[in-house]
Amino acid sequence: MKIQHDISLKKYNTFGIEALASHFIEITTIQNLQEVLRQKGYRKKLVLSGGSNMLITNDLNALVIHINIKGITILSEEENHVILKIMAGENWHELVIWTINHNYGGLENLSLIPGNVGTSPIQNIGAYGVELKDCFESCEAMDISTQQIITFSKSDCQFGYRDSIFKNKGKGKYIITSVNLKLSKPPHRPNTSYGAIETELKKNNIDHPTIKDVSNAVISIRQKKLPDPAKLGNSGSFFKNPVITKDKFITFLDNNPDAPFYQISETAYKIPAAWLIEQCGFKGKRYGDAGVHKNQALVLVNYGNASGQEILRLANKIQDAVSTQFDIEISPEVNIIG
Ligand code: EPU
Repeated sequence: MKIQHDISLKKYNTFGIEALASHFIEITTIQNLQEVLRQKGYRKKLVLSGGSNMLITNDLNALVIHINIKGITILSEEENHVILKIMAGENWHELVIWTINHNYGGLENLSLIPGNVGTSPIQNIGAYGVELKDCFESCEAMDISTQQIITFSKSDCQFGYRDSIFKNKGKGKYIITSVNLKLSKPPHRPNTSYGAIETELKKNNIDHPTIKDVSNAVISIRQKKLPDPAKLGNSGSFFKNPVITKDKFITFLDNNPDAPFYQISETAYKIPAAWLIEQCGFKGKRYGDAGVHKNQALVLVNYGNASGQEILRLANKIQDAVSTQFDIEISPEVNIIG
């Protein structure tokens, strides 16, 4: 275990933002994590996993703890399902491919989501009609103040849309060390209800898709719409889709009869933030090295040397424009750090 100093975080965040960590350590075991949390003398400690859901806005005067604990274990196997324990440092998409190669179903719609397993419960990652919570069993997390491992059941996690206890009451208190998922064994029942998946499968003349077919369809859709962080720095959706009340929705729809929307309850409606941002004229716009992606207005991108502050300024400008034009507040999905 070696603490390094003045380390560039550029390769540790998918936005590709250049920022220095005054102290940095890579963790590969639970014991190492306990030891480092017990170290005195570091006022601020910050956990970094896949770095796929954060915007770093300044150099960090902190001990940055990079979680790189690996391992996939089959905990139990029944006729219809398996339970896997996956350590936090495993790459999410590599896990999805591993499950498909072993013919375990449930994660196929979540193909190609950047980031690591340990951060997947924090925002309850979701795409194409499926959320992590749909196959989540439990997770283990280290309590930062006591260094004890605690198990969180699914209900303990209080999952919501891009939300969990780890973003609310538990924020800054725990480090997720592993996640247990319950996956199906054949026959699978893939979820192909999301329009774009149906269209993609039809295009390829697939009537009875396997989980691999669904994964391939999702990969193809994502590659068309979403930039590859290895080529163009980004953090996926920068904002959450806003949820508005029925009263507000009625006025909104009167003024914008062509707007897309999803009714999520008797009294609440979700509006795609990408649509609002596009209507404000930001899609494909570039300001220096900070920009809005040309195929998906919800994704902010770093063309090379944008600073975190530049991306943040663009985000604020977009929020102000959406608020002025639609009287709707949109809020970041990514964590703003620094
Ligand atoms: N739209 C636009 N302009 C655009 C893009 C989309 O007007 O540039 C409108 C269209 O009407 C479209 C609607 O927005 O029908 C929804 O677009 P899309 O299906 O691309 O989904 P999204 O709501 O923009 C969400 C997730 C994505 C996830 C997709 C697919 C959030 C914040 N984002 O995006 O998640 O991949 O659905 O399920 O919920 C991520 O979290 O990083 C992420 C990429």
